[in-house]
Amino acid sequence: MEYRLITRPAEVLPGAHLISHAGSPLWAAFDIPALADMIAHANAGHVADSRFACAPFARITLIPGSAWQDALTDSLLTHLRPLFKSPASEEVVLDCTSLTENRVRDSALRWFFNLDHSLDDLGLRKRDEQQLRVKTLCGFSLPEQQSALSEAFRQQHAVAKGMLAARRLADIPSETCTPQFVTEEAQRLCAQYPALKCEVLDEKAIVEQGLGLLHAVGKGASRPPRLLAIHYNGAETGPVRSYVGKGITFDTGGLWLKEGAGMYTMKYDMCGAANVLGLMLSIAELKLPVRVMGVLALAENAIGPDAMQPGSVARACNGLTVEINNTDAEGRLVLADAIAWASQRHPQTQYIIDMATLTGAVVKALGYELSGLMTQDEPLRSALTQAGDKSGDEVWSLPLDKRLKKQTESAIADLCNTPTNNAAISASAAWLLHHFCPSDIPWAHLDISGTALWREGGRSVASGRPIPLLMQHLLDDL
Ligand code: BES
Ligand code: MN
Ligand code: ZN
Repeated sequence: MEYRLITRPAEVLPGAHLISHAGSPLWAAFDIPALADMIAHANAGHVADSRFACAPFARITLIPGSAWQDALTDSLLTHLRPLFKSPASEEVVLDCTSLTENRVRDSALRWFFNLDHSLDDLGLRKRDEQQLRVKTLCGFSLPEQQSALSEAFRQQHAVAKGMLAARRLADIPSETCTPQFVTEEAQRLCAQYPALKCEVLDEKAIVEQGLGLLHAVGKGASRPPRLLAIHYNGAETGPVRSYVGKGITFDTGGLWLKEGAGMYTMKYDMCGAANVLGLMLSIAELKLPVRVMGVLALAENAIGPDAMQPGSVARACNGLTVEINNTDAEGRLVLADAIAWASQRHPQTQYIIDMATLTGAVVKALGYELSGLMTQDEPLRSALTQAGDKSGDEVWSLPLDKRLKKQTESAIADLCNTPTNNAAISASAAWLLHHFCPSDIPWAHLDISGTALWREGGRSVASGRPIPLLMQHLLDDL
């Protein structure tokens, strides 16, 4: 989707769908028959929406004033969503004169740019040729608002670009979207940006470099595991910021097999990795002056004669051994190796942030709006929490300290991958992970099981979260 910014009503193209509010300065410039009734309706607190008597617009929607200010529950988006199930025009004019809350503004811009996402693009069903798609988002503002708005459009357009790439990759069914496929797609997407370089560890290199946990998870599948590191050099010097993503291309649960209903959405168990890739693309698109490494831990958790068995022990690349109690707690295994590998690849790392659809329990604790944040680094906690508040892609902290120690004790190995008491499931996973990041590197874990998917009418699609959060965090820190 393209965008443009205007400050004069005369620049509006005829036939656009206008999204505005009752008190807009636009009204002085147009003589629109339907307007007086619409304004009265909007002032009474309702959405006023008309396709009739709206010329020069094809459709006008007035959204009540309060929705333009509601940062907490996204009322603006709640009003916009049904309007764009089938768009009335290829051009949308968004009246930004009341978008004075930055979080509402950024969420709305991101949402519009994300309209480019469509499951039809996967080519897996006949496309509806009648359906219009929004091609241009035109932002109207007062002249004095334009420079701030232009920066917001530029940033959110780039953020959405990464989200769209990540969401599309996550939607691809897992029999196509294998570890090797993700690697190839990432290489293809990164090739657009000279500042991005890919480094791939195939199965042989994974074994040679001692990533025994990633190998244990991947070895049961006919589609072998990969570790992909994407390097971004937007600055010559300075510390590297690292991001690590769980990339389980399908999670059957392994021999600890999931039941069918719970397995259904598990092609999305690679959202962490997809979102690391998307983040790298957004960073490159904005040409941020930083050094960043994104690590994707890619494997399929399958069943078969070579699948890891409950009670087996595997060794990570930092030397620690883990007893694999439960083969369905595979995410922490691949992440542990990837975090340790990342810390060895760049010992001078500013921080490591990992993201993973790690536990169903985080959804029980925090629901679908908030990602779980677990860290022992207070500056990182506060920076991420603030970036969440600011961007609208919010996190909420769960505890993480040595009171969880018993949860990862094993009689046979250094650690055990699941607690036997079924308690503090999300935090226990984070406690396991913390052993794999050297204590001098600030580290934070994001459990995105509830947020990496959008629930739309009973179905799930990838959301691209927490790319907005992590972009905000980077932008705040430049
Ligand atoms: N990928 C799942 C977590 C998950 C479940 C994400 C549902 C989204 C929706 C993860 O690998 C898993 O199976 N976790 C187990 C952990 C348990 C074995 C300690 C879980 O949540 O049940
Ligand atoms: Mn699992
Ligand atoms: Zn999983």
